[in-house]
Amino acid sequence: MNEMRDHIEFEYGGENIALPLTTGTEDETAIEIGTLRNTTGLVTLDIGYKNTASTTSAITFIDGDKGILRYRGYSIETLAEKARFLEVAYLLIFGELPTADQLLKFEQLYRQYTLLDEGLKKLLDAFPSAAHPMDMLSALTAAWAAFDPQPLDVADAEQLCRSAAKILAGFPILTSWIYRKKCGLPLNYADAELHYAANVMQLMFRVPTARYERDPVLTAALDKLLILHADHEQNCSTTAVRVVGSSRAGLLASISAGVSALLGPLHGGANQFVVEMLQAIKADGGDIEKYLDKAKDKADPFRLMGFGHRVYKNFDPRAKIIKGYADDVLEKLGVDDPILDIAKKLESAALADDYFVSRKIFPNVDFYSGIIYRALGIPVEMFTVMFALGRLPGWIAQWLEMRKDEQPVSRPRQVYTGHTQRDFVPLDQR
Ligand code: SDX
Repeated sequence: MNEMRDHIEFEYGGENIALPLTTGTEDETAIEIGTLRNTTGLVTLDIGYKNTASTTSAITFIDGDKGILRYRGYSIETLAEKARFLEVAYLLIFGELPTADQLLKFEQLYRQYTLLDEGLKKLLDAFPSAAHPMDMLSALTAAWAAFDPQPLDVADAEQLCRSAAKILAGFPILTSWIYRKKCGLPLNYADAELHYAANVMQLMFRVPTARYERDPVLTAALDKLLILHADHEQNCSTTAVRVVGSSRAGLLASISAGVSALLGPLHGGANQFVVEMLQAIKADGGDIEKYLDKAKDKADPFRLMGFGHRVYKNFDPRAKIIKGYADDVLEKLGVDDPILDIAKKLESAALADDYFVSRKIFPNVDFYSGIIYRALGIPVEMFTVMFALGRLPGWIAQWLEMRKDEQPVSRPRQVYTGHTQRDFVPLDQR
């Protein structure tokens, strides 16, 4: 291919084909293939979209080789250290950090929606207690739309602000109800006077028969974890939200699809499997090498959960930050969690092992997050729900960007590999 300034050219079928190049603000360059099929009859094949950009986006930038993550140009390290989750949600959704007045207005709006329709509790009751929390969350999120069917006019800024505030306010209520149902506890109501993370904690843990003692260490740690999970460009669940929304399905229906995608063990479900893996290693005498060998054995389906990433071929910056918090939170709480020691030993052993080093497999966001969730008293089955709670503003922001850009319905092509035409064989002759 001859690279021209803003085009590439290649020869196909005796024709000289020119395709335009698009370069983003961080100098990532893509070949625009929108005209490829009409001009050549060719389509591109990239199973799992490992090399395919599905969209342009101005929300989150990741440099996987350098371990960089920025939301709207601000580094994740700075936001995790200096901002609050609702500020970061505002930044992701509306594109700028809010002024004090804008944040105050957004928080007032959010407080107006800290009551969910009681009818949703009837649906919650219908679930078996053994149901996975993410299955319940996906179903309740889709059902929520039925209680609030108003279609969202993406051109109406005031409506957008209201919708975002409503979903950010209602989602933690749903997640807490799911947790309380699984524990057989009475459902709590939001406390609109508390800041976001403190309200999440009281929704989950307040017991009606006792005074609820808020712990600033716990709520600060949760607030940071929510920030670290808030967006991550075109990951699997965000792609699901965008694809469903591209048909002009509603925001809650699209978020419900994102919740279902996040449940998968190769995506958000990994944080639950990390802790279960570490507990299994502990129960098995702490034999780190045995599990590293299993992860390297192609005949063994076992993978090192919390390790590896499609984009990061360096440290996941979130994993580094969370690892630091894990030490801090456990120390402040006086918790000595043996699986943290196993996690650290596993990490250092893997990072010294050529199998992982040569494949650039590093700890990802899920590797240490579960250790903090455990310290917060959150049960392992709720870990992916907490991931969804953090990712909510990212899903909202990405869906809004897709709709504001008036993107077409997502409908990929394929390469057919099945039977060519054949004649029908009557039943009595088969
Ligand atoms: C998240 O996309 C996002 O941004 C996601 C996320 C977000 O914030 O939204 O960051 C959140 O999903 C983090 C990832 C959580 N999942 C896990 O921790 C599950 C374990 N990780 C792997 O399954 C895997 O690393 C993936 C799925 C995360 C990424 O896999 P890829 O990019 O498709 O890479 P691959 O499966 O093609 O693996 C390449 C090689 C293979 O070996 P070879 O064929 O070259 O011999 O690396 C090996 C794989 O077997 N490999 C692993 C491994 N991860 C990759 N081997 C053992 N253990 C692992 N964890």
